[in-house]
Amino acid sequence: MYIIDSDTFLEGDDVRSRKIGILVVLLLVLGFSGQISTVVAGVSPSYPAGDPQTWVIYQIVIDRFYDGNTSNNDPLKSPGLYDPNKENWKLYWGGDLEGIIAKLPYLYELGVSAIWISPVFDNIDVAVNGSNGPEAGYHGYWPKDFKVIEEHFGTWEIFRRLVQEAAKYNITIIIDFVPNHSNPNDAGEYGALYDNGTFVIDYPTDENYATVHPITKSLSYIYNHNGGITNWNDRWEVRYKNLFNLADLNQLNPWVDNYLKESTVPYLEAGIGGIRIDAVKHLEPGWLKTYADHVYARKNVFMFGEWYQGFNDEMYWDMVKFANYTETSLINIPLQQVLVDVFAYDTKTMWDLESAVNKYTTDFMWQNKLTIFIDSHDVPRFLSLRNDLTRFHQALAFVLTAPGIPIIYYGDEQYLHNDTVNDFGQVGGDPYNRPMMETWNTSTTAFKLIKALASLRRYNPALAYGLVITRYVSDDVYIFERKFFDNIVLVAINRNLDTSYRISNIYTSLPDGTYEDYLGGLLNGVGITVNSGKFSVNLPAGSVSVWQYKAVPTGPWVGAIDPVMGRAGNTVTVSGEGFGDVPGRVLITNGQDYWTAEVTYWSDKSVEFIVPSGITTQLNENHVEVIIERAGGARSNGIAFEYLTNKQIPVIFEVRNTQGTNLETQVGEFLWVTGSVPELSYWSPETIKAVGPMLCPAWPDWFVVASVPADTYIEFKFLKAPLGGTGIWEVGSNHAYLTPSSGIGEVSVEANR
Ligand code: NOJ
Ligand code: NOJ
Ligand code: CA
Repeated sequence: MYIIDSDTFLEGDDVRSRKIGILVVLLLVLGFSGQISTVVAGVSPSYPAGDPQTWVIYQIVIDRFYDGNTSNNDPLKSPGLYDPNKENWKLYWGGDLEGIIAKLPYLYELGVSAIWISPVFDNIDVAVNGSNGPEAGYHGYWPKDFKVIEEHFGTWEIFRRLVQEAAKYNITIIIDFVPNHSNPNDAGEYGALYDNGTFVIDYPTDENYATVHPITKSLSYIYNHNGGITNWNDRWEVRYKNLFNLADLNQLNPWVDNYLKESTVPYLEAGIGGIRIDAVKHLEPGWLKTYADHVYARKNVFMFGEWYQGFNDEMYWDMVKFANYTETSLINIPLQQVLVDVFAYDTKTMWDLESAVNKYTTDFMWQNKLTIFIDSHDVPRFLSLRNDLTRFHQALAFVLTAPGIPIIYYGDEQYLHNDTVNDFGQVGGDPYNRPMMETWNTSTTAFKLIKALASLRRYNPALAYGLVITRYVSDDVYIFERKFFDNIVLVAINRNLDTSYRISNIYTSLPDGTYEDYLGGLLNGVGITVNSGKFSVNLPAGSVSVWQYKAVPTGPWVGAIDPVMGRAGNTVTVSGEGFGDVPGRVLITNGQDYWTAEVTYWSDKSVEFIVPSGITTQLNENHVEVIIERAGGARSNGIAFEYLTNKQIPVIFEVRNTQGTNLETQVGEFLWVTGSVPELSYWSPETIKAVGPMLCPAWPDWFVVASVPADTYIEFKFLKAPLGGTGIWEVGSNHAYLTPSSGIGEVSVEANR
């Protein structure tokens, strides 16, 4: 039914003269719900749209995309929240799930693999009185019932239809989950929470039942009642106070924990391919890890969180540790801030961009799983900051080729923007970055650019899995190479709009030969000839050139594993190339012992296996390595995987009365927990691995929420160290604890003397 063809975007070009291949797509007829479907060649059953690292994600604010059903615009359940004239930017404007279904052919044409939709849960039914009139939860971040679909957007039946219809176009659906909070606690429905239609409690009522938790010191019941966040660098405040006026859910209440986890299940059963998690900086990392475990035990999906942070902010270290040791990816917000300075404001140069790239690719273990973006619903659109299409195309081209999974905000391909100044003085800021999508032109330069590079992401694995190597940088020019074994993509951007640059004798891994611009001159790019591993080029003003080489794999080359953690029985996908068409073996090793996993799917580019039980990780503390062995015996590079020893339970660990012990801290020091299971870093004293930093709401007592295996006898100790340091061990003998089989565990001990 549908064939993806990488060359259709460049009509009239002599395809054969260019060193680009045609993306080979196998047309498979599956018995999928009795419908005819197509699947990209050789992809795993978990990811029919392809491995997440090959995706281009398209971000949609459901209400502002397309109205596919006018009968739900002013529903009986919540009348009066709709503005047919689209004058009040904070009311519903009519977009819905059927609108997305109607536009799937358009999105397929654009070449996207995944659609991240704004939160689709039932939001409050009455308006909040704002500074400019009534405001509704059109954006979805004011949920009241996580088990019901918002009536302005559709029904469960329509949601399932969206997932199934999208699958026919090789597109997967990513939901936006909001576990941090419900809705405003001081207006509208006052934090009313419902469980599949049944009222549970609201924020003011909840306060009557709230008590101060003896360990966390949070005044809490279903919600936390500690006022609003004022110090954004205080770890306790950001987690236990309200984000603005949003009623802060207490995930450490067993009912809330269970409610949030079980509310995700129908989405997994509907067949979603990913979850974007809102406001993860405001949640306990230990709780989020148990949430991820809950999800991965049910379905292999791609998860990434929103952690709002810059490279130089105080909690950047925590952000990195979260991504590396909680095994949930993140949106690369620090990079976006640099991109705006480099391409819109010119307050930073390509040197700054290059060092930002070096920084995130060094700091983040799963650098190619970070999602990267230029525009979103939370920042002014680029064209509102600088109405220059050349620079905008350059920023888009960078996002589509740099390490990470690109996210394209709806309408960017149509140059959608509204430059009204918002209440915070931002030109085109929230809500003006959420205009109604109005045009569906498939021939804009931005549209062609996204389509071309989406196609290249599927075809050349250098973009999905490759390292990044700087080949040249100056104030205006950045030439970087992506390299996955012998697969190469080389990108050259000259941001100077007036001056071309002659650049000579640049090294590249591209084999000697002549390379046309993969974009066919779409952004004024040029061709190059590589001689003895070097090339010279005249980069036109304001241009982007892309050169690429697709190698024939000479062995099994592993690029990605999804998810990056799991327990026995979970399904895991390994992606790359050269695995062979005949099934071989999946090996798991701790560096000494090997385990063989049961293979449930095998193709040349993708293998799926079931995590075996009984793996021991002592040698590598948190991680083991997964290796693909071709039939015949050739083995791949190993890729890291975090083995969970059982279902994960949140446990609150407390150490009391540290004063006068060797755990007494100086300014800048924190406490950490390490222990006898991989989940507690298997006795690693390194703070990047041990659980923490612990929080200290009432010195000299410290606590932390850790994700640990259920029904397990564990021994543990506390460590003292600054962020990033190696800990000083608590004196004395180990503490011991038997974890519960469900709910939330608590263990509180006196510091050893
Ligand atoms: C981050 C979301 O992206 C933003 O739009 C929302 O308002 C806040 N989290 C609160 O949910
Ligand atoms: C090494 C530490 O020095 C010790 O204090 C701790 O008890 C053990 N690891 C774990 O058995
Ligand atoms: Ca509608």
